[in-house]
Amino acid sequence: MRYYYLYNLLYHHGQDILNAKNMQLEKDFMQHGHLSCYCHSLFVAYISLRIVKSLHLNANERSLIRGALLHDYFLYDWHLPSPNNKRHAFSHPRRAYENASIDFELNELERDIILKHMFPLTLKLPRYRESYIVLLADKYCAVYETLAKSKTKVKVEHLEKMVNQKTSHES
Ligand SMILES: [Fe+2]
Ligand SMILES: [Fe+2]
Repeated sequence: MRYYYLYNLLYHHGQDILNAKNMQLEKDFMQHGHLSCYCHSLFVAYISLRIVKSLHLNANERSLIRGALLHDYFLYDWHLPSPNNKRHAFSHPRRAYENASIDFELNELERDIILKHMFPLTLKLPRYRESYIVLLADKYCAVYETLAKSKTKVKVEHLEKMVNQKTSHES
């Protein structure tokens, strides 16, 4: 696997999202284990891409990356005690979609990825192959982040560094 090629793809298709002010806010919201929501989203985008490349799947890579980066764009700390946060698992895909559609232009595929990534909790079946890939990558990352906290932190910090290096070199 050519890792630099994957970093390039993440940067190429996701740079505007990664640099956006609200996406940067995700760095302050913890997701699972020791990872911020920003790092989790980057990890999910990376694993989604690895699934596509490893299995030689035909997929819209741009929408896959953008949908994965925005799948948890709900922009609050779900760990804080609040009546709204009680239904977080069920409600956050809609919130993420609403926020993402304000900040970015989303196509139908990206919309489906964000809204259905918690299936089966969100009852409607995902419509596209890319939605299933992100759904699987998200579940894999959530388990990995929870069970191997320190190992994941090192791995994802490296990933973040590599993608940020591309960002600072080319901006
Ligand atoms: Fe989520
Ligand atoms: Fe997620």
